[in-house]
Amino acid sequence: PSLQQYHTFSLASNCASIVEFDSVDSFLQAYNPEVNTYILGGGSNSVFLDDFEGVVLVNKIKGISHYDTESHHHISVGAGEDWHEFVSLCMQNGWFGLENLALIPGSVGASPIQNIGAYGVEVHSFIDSIEAILLETKEPFLIKGADCQFGYRDSIFKHALYGKALITKVNFTLPKAYDVVASYGELSAIDCPNAKDIFNKVIEVRKAKLPDPKQLGNAGSFFKNPVIALAHFEELKCHYLDIPSYPVSENQVKVPAAWLIDQMGFKGKALNGVRCHPTQPLVLTNIGNAQGNDLIALAKEIMNSVESEFKITLEPEVRLVGREGLIQL
Ligand code: FAD
Ligand code: EPU
Repeated sequence: PSLQQYHTFSLASNCASIVEFDSVDSFLQAYNPEVNTYILGGGSNSVFLDDFEGVVLVNKIKGISHYDTESHHHISVGAGEDWHEFVSLCMQNGWFGLENLALIPGSVGASPIQNIGAYGVEVHSFIDSIEAILLETKEPFLIKGADCQFGYRDSIFKHALYGKALITKVNFTLPKAYDVVASYGELSAIDCPNAKDIFNKVIEVRKAKLPDPKQLGNAGSFFKNPVIALAHFEELKCHYLDIPSYPVSENQVKVPAAWLIDQMGFKGKALNGVRCHPTQPLVLTNIGNAQGNDLIALAKEIMNSVESEFKITLEPEVRLVGREGLIQL
């Protein structure tokens, strides 16, 4: 079967079989530890570069429940729920906090894996715990958010629990007393914003900058924003007076990869079926019948160019899946 509709970059790849599951039981029936398996949510952070010689299991576990205490809303969400629909539901019900993360594609179950973030907020701040199945033993377990080693686009699910667990449910805690986060870029221009103003503005800005995967295949930011030593940054600043940065720690800063790629002249540049997006060069798009090799070729060209000019190594943010499983560039 074809995976084209199952990943937002929409390359024409196939696999041995695709099984959608909507409960833990149906997952356990479908999962065979002897067979190469890729667990998929919305496919918005996974690119199938080639035919995948294995089974793709697609998470459709649904269900949302809520209770509140004097101080907090507690919401348990099935991992196969759509992230943006969940954020929209929170807005309708007056459960605020996740508004900066509006319109991020994908499933709720994938949100902790790379600790999704946008417009000054990361999801980890609202995750109380995660319910999951350990693939090796098929036993359920619960992990507290505080134990997930969350970082920038990072969590324990990319390290010690990498490929070892199926996330089945995410338990969120949203404080009733909260302050909106309106410091990032375009949000700071809104006068006295409330959560719904932030929600609407984030949607507006994202629609203006980011290509809609339904119209133009893409997987969001292709690379992570690199974190570099302050000394390295100061050196670069001598040559590039306007190089932007965000503080990370006393001796590290984050540099926007979009700026580095823009400087190297890739914005709008196409290579066969893949293009560096004209309004957000960190996003690579499938402009028609692209092949996995085209994407790798453009990504490597960008990485080499940024490396030789700035001595900065860009790392892909997306999961690249080859014939046998994940590959590194
Ligand atoms: P998938 O691609 O299906 O899976 C991602 C990874 O998680 C895979 O390794 C998969 O094996 C694993 N996985 C998925 N579900 C489970 C599960 N239940 N249990 C165990 N493992 C699982 N990200 C941001 O952080 N911020 C943004 O602003 C942002 N903007 C985006 C904009 C666009 C247009 C696009 C296309 C993507 C954007 N992304 C962004 C990336 C993406 O939306 C997120 O990473 C999202 O969380 C991926 O969800 P998914 O269900 O589609 O993941
Ligand atoms: N920039 C340019 N040229 C451009 C566009 C941007 O130089 O054409 C520079 C500017 O300096 C700008 C900076 O890049 O200020 C940052 O751009 P933007 O605000 O669009 O954000 P980003 O750093 O490129 C990150 C996330 C996005 C997230 C936005 C908003 C990563 C890898 N990406 O992008 O997440 O939505 O911030 O918070 O951290 C994703 O992960 O898939 C994703 C889209």
